[in-house]
Amino acid sequence: MKLRTNARFSTICIHAGQTPDPSTGAIITPIYQTSTYVQDALGVHKGYEYARTQNPTRSAFEANLAAMEHGAAGFGFASGMAATGAVMTLLKSGDHVVVTDNTYGGTYRLFERVLRKYQLDFTYVDTSQLGEIERAIRPTTRLLFLETPTNPVLRLTDLAGACTIAHGHGIPVVVDNTFASPYVQRPIDFGADLVVHSTTKFLNGHSDSVGGAVIAVRDDHVEWLRFVQNAEGAIIGPMDAWLVLRGTKTLPIRMDRHNANAMVIAEYLASHPKVTRVHYPGLASHPQHELAKRQMHGFGGLISFEMGSLERARTVLNNVALMALAESLGGVETLISHPASMTHASVPPERRQEIGLTDDMIRISVGIEDVDDLKEDLEQALDRV
Ligand SMILES: Cc1ncc(COP(=O)(O)O)c(C=O)c1O
Repeated sequence: MKLRTNARFSTICIHAGQTPDPSTGAIITPIYQTSTYVQDALGVHKGYEYARTQNPTRSAFEANLAAMEHGAAGFGFASGMAATGAVMTLLKSGDHVVVTDNTYGGTYRLFERVLRKYQLDFTYVDTSQLGEIERAIRPTTRLLFLETPTNPVLRLTDLAGACTIAHGHGIPVVVDNTFASPYVQRPIDFGADLVVHSTTKFLNGHSDSVGGAVIAVRDDHVEWLRFVQNAEGAIIGPMDAWLVLRGTKTLPIRMDRHNANAMVIAEYLASHPKVTRVHYPGLASHPQHELAKRQMHGFGGLISFEMGSLERARTVLNNVALMALAESLGGVETLISHPASMTHASVPPERRQEIGLTDDMIRISVGIEDVDDLKEDLEQALDRV
């Protein structure tokens, strides 16, 4: 079984990084649940010495994700946050980072509460406005950190435009591609230098693993990330790597259904008289619908909408029955959440207001159930408002 260099995306998802196990022929890469490897003689081994440094299941996971994102190499981490943390070790004290203003709350917390202690500086701007990126760049800026679509207001950044600006100043670009998944969008194709994932979400797809990954292009980034992955040791374990590998095999068909279901639900909500506003890049009313059509393949599985007041939002959240009230996203089952008090509780209220993350906002990670069941569930909850 050999993957041709021109293999298409679905084929890459199933096969990249995975060859039948050489010792048994097992078609699925085994979970190498081991901490060390026996050496044949002093200094003679099979390329594996200690499992923090190398693990064959993790290597398969890393090669799989690197191929999906069109990168040169991938690195597996214990969570999405550990992956972002590893990228930030490319910087040193005094460096400045320009960041998408409504980035994931945990990213904001890492930057503000942890990395500021190490004299890193951050400026948060609305990166959907390319001029704001240009204006925020300083002589000390060493990284542009983008998230598109953003969580939870689903604002988009023009990746090609942002990369052109950053590269014009010699600044590398990292994109958190968790929300879209590489099926919907591949930032490296638009010029990004690094991609970060919480594999906990669409890549795993079954809500049964926590993990993260960084995919890199440049040799210097690859070399440093390989070093820091081992030096800090925040690696993904073999079981979690295996669960993600199983997930990525079905990523394209899952994403097709996530995209299709989310479109139906977004249209349903947009036409509902009790819903005051819907945010979904697939709707013609989305301010960046044209960019979404250019940059994304499908519009993703995340929708947010506003109910007019916290009380009305609470009624919906407390009355859905099929949709689970839970943080996280990207699993086959539909999750519903209240970003202001759940995923983004670590973002100060005034910042939440600035980025349009209102208290009456509800986010849905639309799963791959029958969409009519999802619609009926929302309908009975909205009827109680
Ligand atoms: C966009 C985004 N990036 C990163 C993370 C962090 O991932 P993890 O929970 O795997 O650390 C999340 C988690 O929700 C996320 O939504």
